[in-house]
Amino acid sequence: MLHIIKHPLARHVVTHLRDKTTKPATFRSLCHHLSVLLALEATADLAMREVAVNTPLEACIGHKLARPLVVVPILRAGLGMVEPVVSLFPDVSIGYIGLERDHATALARSYYCKLPPLADTRVLLVDPMLATGGSAVQALDVIKQNGGAEIRMLNVVAAPEGVKAVETAHPDVAIYAGALDRGLNDRKYILPGLGDFGDRLYGT
Ligand code: PRP
Ligand code: URA
Repeated sequence: MLHIIKHPLARHVVTHLRDKTTKPATFRSLCHHLSVLLALEATADLAMREVAVNTPLEACIGHKLARPLVVVPILRAGLGMVEPVVSLFPDVSIGYIGLERDHATALARSYYCKLPPLADTRVLLVDPMLATGGSAVQALDVIKQNGGAEIRMLNVVAAPEGVKAVETAHPDVAIYAGALDRGLNDRKYILPGLGDFGDRLYGT
């Protein structure tokens, strides 16, 4: 299931991210703001447990997260979406999946993987661009092989091709995106998109 963030700030931020004159420093800050909105949406249904708490006036019942949260960025562009999640959920565990698309074939090659225990957690897989969906499907395969079962995917911009690929291979994974774009060009870049997210984030 695809959820496009409806908050007006999301559209405002995506527009600035698309603008080719936006410099890396501003781009990073915009990425942070949009990731916060995405993370809030993707965690709105987290399970809670009741706890006792004493206010200065009396005892009452409060709530805490019932299960651990894990964020997994797909390197390298996904790294820009980690700190926003940590700022909301300081106790989050972080795993890393390194995948890089071959420029000629657009097929993702795995070069790194380090994951915390994933059983009985909510996993947020973060990657700004969902283009062909090849990277996302590979990452979701790995997360499930390592015990992840309740997974949400967060993207800044998604293409219909990528959404279809994820929905076909992993129909249980809900996708939260800032925008759904028109499609891919012949080099498998998203149109209108915002270009190469990693290059714009890191100034490469
Ligand atoms: C980008 C992006 C995704 C992937 C999406 O990463 O961050 O991981 O492409 O494309 P796909 O849906 O067709 O697989 P890239 O491979 O450019 O690596 P980078 O993050 O190191 O720049
Ligand atoms: N990766 C990007 O960074 N941008 C695209 O448009 C597609 C894949």
